[in-house]
Amino acid sequence: MTPARRPMPAYTPMPTGSVVLEGAPEAHAALRTTTPALMVIFGASGDLARRKLLPALYKLIYQGLLPPNFTVLGYARSDYDDVSFRERAQEGVERFADVEFDPQVWETFSQHLFYIRGSYTDPEDFRRLAGQIQALEERLDTAHNRLFYLATPPDVYESIATHLGQVKLARPTRPTSWTRLVVEKPFGHDLASAQALNDHLLAIFQEDQIYRIDHYLGKETVQNILVFRFANGIFEPIWNRNYVDHVQITVAESIGVEGRGGYYDRAGALRDMVQNHMLQLVALTAMEPPVAFDADAVRNQKVNLLRSIRPLRPEEVPRYTVRAQYAAGNIDGVEVPDYLDEPGVRPDSTTETFVAWKVEIDNWRWSGVPFYLRTGKALPRKISEIAIYFRRAPHLLFQSDPHLSQRPQRNVLSMRIQPDEGISLEISAKRPGPSVQIQPVHMEFLYGSSFGVAPPDAYQRLLLDVVRGDSTLFTRRDEVEVAWDRVTRILEGWRLEEEEARRSGLSFRLPTYRAGTWGPAEAGRLLARDGQRWRRL
Ligand code: BG6
Repeated sequence: MTPARRPMPAYTPMPTGSVVLEGAPEAHAALRTTTPALMVIFGASGDLARRKLLPALYKLIYQGLLPPNFTVLGYARSDYDDVSFRERAQEGVERFADVEFDPQVWETFSQHLFYIRGSYTDPEDFRRLAGQIQALEERLDTAHNRLFYLATPPDVYESIATHLGQVKLARPTRPTSWTRLVVEKPFGHDLASAQALNDHLLAIFQEDQIYRIDHYLGKETVQNILVFRFANGIFEPIWNRNYVDHVQITVAESIGVEGRGGYYDRAGALRDMVQNHMLQLVALTAMEPPVAFDADAVRNQKVNLLRSIRPLRPEEVPRYTVRAQYAAGNIDGVEVPDYLDEPGVRPDSTTETFVAWKVEIDNWRWSGVPFYLRTGKALPRKISEIAIYFRRAPHLLFQSDPHLSQRPQRNVLSMRIQPDEGISLEISAKRPGPSVQIQPVHMEFLYGSSFGVAPPDAYQRLLLDVVRGDSTLFTRRDEVEVAWDRVTRILEGWRLEEEEARRSGLSFRLPTYRAGTWGPAEAGRLLARDGQRWRRL
């Protein structure tokens, strides 16, 4: 057992010299695109458009990263027109764009915002859409570049794609123009449905036209995992089973299901967070160096890594995974109801709001190094972190404080995805004083203090990459499917577990954890069996 952690004095190095400020235009020159385009947002009346997409586009125009005639055509079933859509967009931008609201930039942007009402299944509506696109292109000179963004519920993805194909919107209309399709998550709900969706989309679009979004890949801190690993010479030699004891990846949220009970109850934490975001974090942390920083090279290595995640047989699933539901509790003074009492949740639901998974990676670099993943809703705080636990020093020379462990401490490198974005290395240091007392301290890099800005929003980066035609930060077909393969095996193991319980006449109940705590006792036991414990966050 490691001793209780003492508060750690911080050792903060000087800010680095190569400062890239969010507002410094010259730093982004390479990213600036003069490519005009027309973006159709399906599901434009929804929350994603209002909170993320429109604010991100506004910011890109504000920063001069997209040309002023970048045009957005909202499409949804709700009853808006251009004027009311602009009003809704303005409210979203003012509230969520986290840059000053510049009336002049807004004027330019809003003059390029349009709305068309339509269903996702009626061919006539798609013919109207095609007509509207043509009219806007002629008027606004968007060079026939088209970007279709699926921000709808996933059950209409296939229908939208079919209709785009039927009205001849799926292929570029000029040799020099492009047509791209952005697909939001969830991409399928198991391996078979993800394969079917891929088959469907790929009968209409080509793989290089499809951008499958995982917004975690747009996070600056997630991209920094690769820079940290491959732009620094000192870490790569120790980034393997000879030096690393185990890895812990936590993606914790303090919110409950917050009005998304209907969706969430059909998904659960494994599908909602692990299949996509967390397996991406595993892939970036553990993959081999790519031969280049381009879409194919990076994604080839990610796929290789995902393939080397040990597939679980159904009977192994209970030994490697823990799932649980939150019970009523209190987070920061706010009462949280029982998950089963949340609106939209079935009263007898066995959907997990917490999951932990001991991932084994069967390759030369990581053999025998467990990656422990945990994620959940209604945990004490929002925090995402990757912690690399290095092996202990082989022998402790110093007589330590009797209250501290007599065993050498482990160095832990933690890559903080959010909040307090940064990287910190926990090392042992001598406490000032006449005797040798060893205490863990942190060497820290914080985005805020080193770069003077908070990292930009993920959607900004991802939307810009779609316009630039760079799919490095998007998931490829094989990547999505191998991730689903590993996750579907777990779902199958859980299904059999429930079926067996019912066959024996028992009612199946998931373990629970009180909202505002770090998950069920079973999660602690998963690590305790290996002599480990979860990091205190
Ligand atoms: C989404 C999930 O993909 O990610 C949500 O559907 C979750 O349930 C969200 O809350 C978390 O994203 P972030 O960027 O806040 O960590």
